[in-house]
This record gives sequence, structure tokens and C-alpha cells, in this order.
Amino acid sequence: MLTYFLSSFSLKESSIVGSLNLVLSKVRSILRLLWGDPRFLVMSWLARFIAVREWVADRGGYQPPATIDTTVIQATVGARSLATSGQVAKLIQAHGYYVGFTLQNSILQDLLTFAETKPCYANRDPALPFYIKNKDQLEQSLGTQLLVAGYLDTHEACDAYQKLKTDPYLLDVASQYLNHSAIYMRGELAWGFPAPNTPAEKISTARVYHCDINDFKTIKFFFYLTEVGEGEGPHAYIKGTHRHRRFSHQWIGQGCAALDDEALVDIYGRDRVHVVTGPAGLGFAGDPYCLHKGGVPYQQPRLLLQLEFGIYPYRIWYF
Ligand SMILES: [Fe+2]
Repeated sequence: MLTYFLSSFSLKESSIVGSLNLVLSKVRSILRLLWGDPRFLVMSWLARFIAVREWVADRGGYQPPATIDTTVIQATVGARSLATSGQVAKLIQAHGYYVGFTLQNSILQDLLTFAETKPCYANRDPALPFYIKNKDQLEQSLGTQLLVAGYLDTHEACDAYQKLKTDPYLLDVASQYLNHSAIYMRGELAWGFPAPNTPAEKISTARVYHCDINDFKTIKFFFYLTEVGEGEGPHAYIKGTHRHRRFSHQWIGQGCAALDDEALVDIYGRDRVHVVTGPAGLGFAGDPYCLHKGGVPYQQPRLLLQLEFGIYPYRIWYF
């Protein structure tokens, strides 16, 4: 009886301590955002609602460029010519994403050379640099398999990346979709490796359905730099969830990541799931508010480049 009483007391105590820690960490994070940039804190709460997102976007004004004289995207793929920036923006408006860019081969090769010749960082930890060719040795010395490795911000020194970041065609797609002059927010070049993932690791590496709220509206471009099939953790979208979403799922915002993937697919429709597979050089763009995830690689590593553009500049971010 006494043992039962003591164990139930310690259970209650540990759950109270757990809840208190959760509240304290939430308060700390709110204070950090408030101190860093109060506008970001307000946005992070309001931009979870579709009506607010659309209202802010509608209040903008798209300014077409004088010319789009150059692009790092191939003009044709086989018999198919490049969709206009307006067509791409309309498709993203309708579906939440667009699949169909192809990087020029010289840009792809330059990015691959960069990835092979510059150090990346195990689990995005600045204290753990390594060259990708030495991954097995690093895993042996760490005694664990790596999930991811990113180049932190070093890719900014890569000319090919700068060409993508300032590409007039991609910028025009972004500006038309946002209905504002697109502002570059951030980008990442990162490897995803085949390795066992715990549920918590899946959430922390964006390998469960989630949405990202980084501004009232943003657009993210992705490029596969290695071939990505079902076994390499392909990206997946749930079509239309940037415009049509249960109010309860709007209310919890980025908390959607805690919901079960299968439950979300059942709610929004299995026929709406679009898994993006394709060769090295394939590019696509989506509204990160549209429910999406990166799959878990279980065969070959995947090298992915991403760039995000938004409407307003902020002095702070969640991390
Ligand atoms: Fe995401």
C-alpha cells in the first residue's frame, strides 16, 4: 500500500515537474522572441490562420520585373519548355506547391563540387565538421550513425548558390506568389542519411507532416542534388492544405507536427498526397504552410538544397 502510495506520489510529482519545465521553456521562448523582434512574435501567432495569411498577401502589390533575361533553370526539358513564372505562381496558389524545375547541369555540378570539397557538420553541430567522403570514419569515432549533416551558412560562399539566390526567374515566381517583393530569408544545403530514427528525431528533422510559419506567407524552393527515389526520403506534400485546413489544425499552427501522419492523411485524403521523386537537378517550390515532410532515407543519402523567401524581414527566428 505504502509502495503504491509512494509510487503514485512520485509519478504525480514527476508529471508536475515535467509540466512546469514545459511552461518555463515556453515562457523563455516567448520572451526571447519578444526581446528579439516583437513583430515576429505577433506574426508567429497570427500567421497560423489562413484568413490572416490571405488578407496580408492580398494587401501587397506585385511589381513585375522589366525583363527576366537569365535563369539557372533549364529552358527546356525534353519537349517541355519552362513554365512562365506566372504559371508556376498560379499552380502554387492552387495546390500549395509546384514540381518541375530542372537545374542547369553546370550549376548542379558546381553545387556537387562544393558539397564534396567543403566540410559539412554532423547533425548541424558547428563543433563536428567533416568531409562527406569521411562520413564512415566519423560515425565510427562517434559510435553512432548520423541522421543529417548541413553546411551551416558556408554555402553562401558558393557562386552557384548565389546565382540561385538572385535568379530573376525564381525571384519572380516568389514575388508573384507572395504578391510582394520577395525577401530572401535563409537557405540550407544538407545531407539526409539512411539511419534509424526515433519519433522525436523524426520531428526534429522535419520527417513528419508539419507546416512552417516563418512569415505571413513564404515560399520555399528545393533542389535535389542527388537522385531521390522512394528509398532516399522523398519530399511529400498534402495538396491544398495551405488554403483548406481544419480550424483546430490552424489553431495549433506548427504544433501539427505532433499529430500522427496517418491521421492527417486520413483527414485530408490519401489521393492528395504528392510524393516528389526524381533525378539530381529536379527542383520544386511550395508554400511551407502547406502540410509537408521530408521522408526518411533508408537506401542512399540525399543531398538537398533549399531557399526560403518571405514578405517581411525579421531580426529573429525560432532558432
Ligand atoms: Fe518544413
